[in-house]
Amino acid sequence: MDTKQALRPLLEDRSFLRHFWHPVCTRAELECANPSGKGPLAVKLLGEPVVIAKLGGKVVALEDRCAHRFAALSKGTIIDDSLRCNYHGWRYDSTGKVNHIPACPEQPIPRKACTAAYECEVKYDLVWVRLDGSWNCTEIPYFSEWDKPGMRHIVAPSYGWNTAAERRWENFTDLSHFAFVHPGTLYDPTYDRPPIPAVDRVDGELRFAIEPPPEMIEKLPENAPMGTFTYRCTMPYSINLKMQLYKDDSDFTLWTTSCPVDATHCKNFMIISRAAKDDDPDHVHTAFQKLVLSEDQPIIESQFPAEISLDEVSLGTDKVSNQYRKWLRELSIAGTKGQDEFVKALRTTVTDERPIGA
Ligand code: FES
Ligand SMILES: [Fe+2]
Repeated sequence: MDTKQALRPLLEDRSFLRHFWHPVCTRAELECANPSGKGPLAVKLLGEPVVIAKLGGKVVALEDRCAHRFAALSKGTIIDDSLRCNYHGWRYDSTGKVNHIPACPEQPIPRKACTAAYECEVKYDLVWVRLDGSWNCTEIPYFSEWDKPGMRHIVAPSYGWNTAAERRWENFTDLSHFAFVHPGTLYDPTYDRPPIPAVDRVDGELRFAIEPPPEMIEKLPENAPMGTFTYRCTMPYSINLKMQLYKDDSDFTLWTTSCPVDATHCKNFMIISRAAKDDDPDHVHTAFQKLVLSEDQPIIESQFPAEISLDEVSLGTDKVSNQYRKWLRELSIAGTKGQDEFVKALRTTVTDERPIGA
């Protein structure tokens, strides 16, 4: 009998992820964290505790640790435009510097009395954080519909899964699982041989498109969004799935992204956008997506280890995830070699071969 070998992780080094913008909470989650509407709210990003708060009218992200005796600032209180640590009352400004120490207000504030401040933006009603902006080579991910007139959006509450953010990404873009995980919900189970699209790298996005069989809609629930699927996926975790629905040619976009809480947990976000119509209530779409997620979650959380392994057996029909894994691994390795290598790995266009006639 063979001796059992240790599994090799796809990503040996995850530090490249610090250079990307990641979502950490919805705007609504921050507003509901405290009656003030300004937080503070504790989140975790890439294993690091971060506190989100609205100080001086701006949403900020600070390391969630007071410089004094290391209490969590997320247990604190917003006072005027400062975040007060609730252990001994030190107050922090929006740049992470201490601006008041109640025990000795006349004394100069020690130079080291500060906590790290990260870049933070609010976009698409989500709060985004970039832990390391020193290479300044990434943007908040692409979302085709957000500013488009005539579209109606649903920003769904976030949901946590006990798996790596990479597995959540792969699940959403997996073209082979529909017939087995979502029979009668999203797909006709008789279509169990997936399409194999051309997959391109363009400007930091993985792009591909498929056309599910139009006749499937007769066997699916009325609310199942089915049409031509065009994917633009900003690395590493965002997916802009734009559909033109077979039933009426209207636009429908499922936009999803994940926060890599740590290597084995993710917090996920979804925005559903569709052409605004009368008699098309939000709850119909929210409930349908909830059903789809309830079909996916147990399978995805059963994958172990939660981190993707190089030892998984891949097929040609797994092309999308194969390409995704290849690119992620290249980015991870390039990230250890410095900014130039990383930017080259992220921005170089790679166009897939098309079948003749396509
Ligand atoms: S630990 Fe924060 S003020 Fe002392
Ligand atoms: Fe699924």
